[in-house]
Amino acid sequence: MTVRDTWNPAQYERFREEREQPFHDLVALITRRPARRVIDLGCGTGLLTAELHRELQAAETLGIDSSDAMLERARSLEGDGLRFARADISDWQPAALVDVVFSNAALQWVGDHRAVFARLTQMLAPGGELAVQVPANFDHVSHTLAADIAREEPFATAMQGYTRTFSVLPPEEYATLLYRLGFVAQTVRLQVYGHVLESPDAVVEWVRGTLLTDYESRMPRPLYEEFVARYRERLNAALGNQRPYFYPFKRILLWGRRPD
Ligand SMILES: C[S@@+](CC[C@H](N)C(=O)[O-])C[C@H]1O[C@@H](n2cnc3c(N)ncnc32)[C@H](O)[C@@H]1O
Repeated sequence: MTVRDTWNPAQYERFREEREQPFHDLVALITRRPARRVIDLGCGTGLLTAELHRELQAAETLGIDSSDAMLERARSLEGDGLRFARADISDWQPAALVDVVFSNAALQWVGDHRAVFARLTQMLAPGGELAVQVPANFDHVSHTLAADIAREEPFATAMQGYTRTFSVLPPEEYATLLYRLGFVAQTVRLQVYGHVLESPDAVVEWVRGTLLTDYESRMPRPLYEEFVARYRERLNAALGNQRPYFYPFKRILLWGRRPD
């Protein structure tokens, strides 16, 4: 099955304000300032990477992402120690050890978090810090419904039975993992971000910028439009005519520091 790059910076940034708060909460956990070398895994359009670079007064920040469409925006922000590169988080290695490994809303796309976190830990210099935010909303109807529809025809045949699975662990497992990986200080918390949206229809626009991109990348355009139409109808039926609609969104924020 061919998988296309369906990340769309304009669609993603429609909910920029709502998406930014977890980023700020995550940055606030980092103690290292100034940081010499920082990496941002799954940096997207780079706007928040540039903010991270400034906030940490970093000498060098490298944002990596696998989407050319997202990186196209990011590249215009390069300069003054800030750079971007196209790479896959699953197999990328930095050229030298770094002070901060950062990732906001991206590692949920990468499998086997125990192995991934072990690899990220090895990227850190002594005293280095890891700061990661991942969504944990997979049991909300906005997410379960997408998988339900993917299992229905004609989508199941078109995607050869594919449904998105997520590698995000329960918060206490991240805490245990950080301990076992030798982090000497840590914070792991589950936080619910409440988003007041105009109506349930706005949730459709929200997930079209993230979760549904994965299904979009595996279907021809007209079939994907059919998928979105079915999703919209069923989500509206499930959530009812709530105006505004309060969208509770769970996220896990985690931070750890290596021994000096
Ligand atoms: C939800 S966006 C988050 C972007 C940015 N960190 C932010 O907070 O705005 C997720 C990003 O992760 C990137 N991504 C997903 N899987 C990836 C992978 N395996 N390697 C590199 N980037 C990946 C996507 O291309 C997308 O830009």
